[in-house]
Amino acid sequence: MCGIVGYVGQRPAQDLLLAALQKLEYRGYDSAGIALVENKSLYLEKRAGKVSDLMRVLKASRATVGLGHTRWATHGPPTDQNAHPHCDCQKKIAVIHNGIIENYLPFKEELQARGHIFLSQTDSEVIAHLIEERYDGTNLLEAVREALRPLRGAYALAVVATDSPDEVIVARQGSPLVLGLGEHETFAASDIPALLAFTKTMVFLNDGELGVLRRDGVELCDFEGRRITRAPQRIEWDVVTAQKQGYKHFMLKEIHEQPHALANTLQNRYELATGKIVLPELQKLTEKIHKAQMVYCVAMGTAYYAALTAKYLWREFFRVPLAVELASEFRYSKPYLDENTLVIAISQSGETADTLGAVREARARGASVISIVNVVGATLTRESDATLYTHAGPEIGVASTKALLAQLAALDLLGFFIAQSRGWLAPEQTRPALESLVRGPALIEKLLQQEREIVRLAQVFYEKEHFLFLGRDLLYPIALEGALKLKEISYIHAEGYAAGELKHGPIALIDAEMPTVVLVTKESVYEKVFSNIEEVKARRGIVITVTDQINKEIERVSDFIIEIPPSSRWLAPLLFVVPLQLFAYHIADLRGTDIDQPRNLAKSVTVE
Ligand code: M6R
Repeated sequence: MCGIVGYVGQRPAQDLLLAALQKLEYRGYDSAGIALVENKSLYLEKRAGKVSDLMRVLKASRATVGLGHTRWATHGPPTDQNAHPHCDCQKKIAVIHNGIIENYLPFKEELQARGHIFLSQTDSEVIAHLIEERYDGTNLLEAVREALRPLRGAYALAVVATDSPDEVIVARQGSPLVLGLGEHETFAASDIPALLAFTKTMVFLNDGELGVLRRDGVELCDFEGRRITRAPQRIEWDVVTAQKQGYKHFMLKEIHEQPHALANTLQNRYELATGKIVLPELQKLTEKIHKAQMVYCVAMGTAYYAALTAKYLWREFFRVPLAVELASEFRYSKPYLDENTLVIAISQSGETADTLGAVREARARGASVISIVNVVGATLTRESDATLYTHAGPEIGVASTKALLAQLAALDLLGFFIAQSRGWLAPEQTRPALESLVRGPALIEKLLQQEREIVRLAQVFYEKEHFLFLGRDLLYPIALEGALKLKEISYIHAEGYAAGELKHGPIALIDAEMPTVVLVTKESVYEKVFSNIEEVKARRGIVITVTDQINKEIERVSDFIIEIPPSSRWLAPLLFVVPLQLFAYHIADLRGTDIDQPRNLAKSVTVE
C-alpha cells in the first residue's frame, strides 16, 4: 500500500524521484521520504505528510542515484521516524519497502540483542539491519538476497548503499514492481504511470525475483541467484492520459472518460452483424469453459459490485450458475474447487492481495482462472490462465469509476462468450444485447451533461451526515456502489441496501433528516420499488429518485429526481451508476475533502 521508486542515471535524481512519487501518492500518502547517494554519502530526508511537505524541506542535490517512498501506514503510525527510507546503524544503507514483513518481530529482537539500534516501529526497518550484517561493501545484490531469504510476507523493495554508489537493488515478493529502461538510465517503480514521463520501455519483475539497476541496464536473477533474461515491453499508455488535463480531480476526469472506457473495452470484441463474440485471449481455455461445472467470481470493493451485477444477468441470460464472493472471504470459506471449476477474478489494479490470494488458492486446487484486469502486466494477469483486459486507461483516483463500467462490459462479453462456446446462446440471440451495449457511450455522454443539476442537488445535501441507497435486482449492487462512493470520498455515513430489505431493519433510520436515494427502473420490479419509496415517504423521509421511468406517481413521491435515459437490462447498471458517482464527487468537493486521496485509503490494497 505504499509507492516506491528508484533511479540510477545521469540526471539529478531528486526532482525525478519527487515527480514519480507524486504519481504514486494515490497508493499511500501519510508520509514520504527520499535517499540520495552522492560522493559515497547518503542524503536522507523523510517526513510525515504528503510529498509536497517533504519537498519543502529538501536541499538541492546533484546526486544521480536514489530512492523515494510514499507511505500508507501498517506498522506504526505516520510519523517522521516511521517514514521510509530506513537505514542501517552506520547510515550507509537505505531501504524502501511496500508490503508487510510478517515475521519481522523475532528478527528485530535478535538484531537488538546483537546491538542494532532501531529508530522506528515499522516492520521494514529489519531489512536494512539484516542487509547490514551481510554486506561487506562489495556485493550488495548478494547481501540483499541473503537478508531476504528468511523473511516471510509481501514486499517490493529497493536498496541503495554508499559503498555501491552506482546501483539500486530491487526485489519483489507479492507486491508490484516495474522496471524502466532509458538511455544510460534505469528506473524502478510500483506502477507504470510513475515512469511514463521518463520511459515507455518496461520490464515486469515477478515474485521471487531480484534486480540490479545500473546506468547501462538491469540485470535480473531469482532468489537462488540464477540469471533471468526477460524481454522489455513497450507500454502504450501515454503521459497525457495519466494527467488531470484541466479537471479539478482525477476522479472527475475519470468519470468523464467513461464513454471512452466503455467503447474501448467493447471495441473489436464482437461482430455486430452476426452477434459473435471474439475473444482470442480466451481460446486456450475453450475446453475448460466447456467442462466447467461451477463458476465463481471473486473480487473486492467496486470490482465485487461489478461481479454482483453480473450474477443477475448471467443467471438470467446464460444459464451459468455464478457464485459471487468477496475474495477475502472466498479463500477462507473452504470453497468447492476442482479441475472443473472456473474462477473469474476481477480487479482494476490486478494487485489486490485478497484477490490474488483467492486466485492462488483456486489454482493450487486445480481450478482455471480468467482475470478481468485494467493494468497491463499486473500480477494477477501473470497468475491467471487467461486475462480479459478492460481498456479503461489508467485510473488514478482512489475511488474507482471508469474501471467499473469497463468491468461490467467485460463481464457481459465474457458471459456471452461462455454461453456461445457452450452452445447455450446462438450468436444471433446476442445481437440485441450487443446493439444495446454499443449505444452505451453515447447515452453516458448524455448523462454527463446533467452534471449541473447534480451539482445543485449536492448543494442541497452536502451537509447531511447519513444516507441510504436502495436498489433492487441488478440495481441493488449499484445502490451498494453509490453508498461506497459517497462514504469513501465524502466521509458521510452511507449504507446501500436491497430495497426489499428496507422493512427488515433500515427503515428504523428514516426520519425527516435522512435522505434516501432510490434507484428505480421500468425494466424490473418497478411496483415493488415504488412501494418502498412510499414507505420512506410515509416516515417523512427525503427521497431522491434515480429513474428511467418518470411519471406522475414518481413525481408525487420524490423530493428530487435524476433522470436516466431508457435503455435495457444490459445497460441500465452502467447508466444508473454515473449520476451516483457525480453526486458523491460534488458532495465531497463541497465538503472540501481530499477526493483523489481520501483519508485512510489507498488505490491498491496490496496487504490482506
Ligand atoms: O484494484 P481492485 O479493483 O482489485 O481494487 C478493489 C478495491 O480495493 C477497490 O474497488 C476499492 O473498493 C475502491 N476504493 C472503490 O472505489
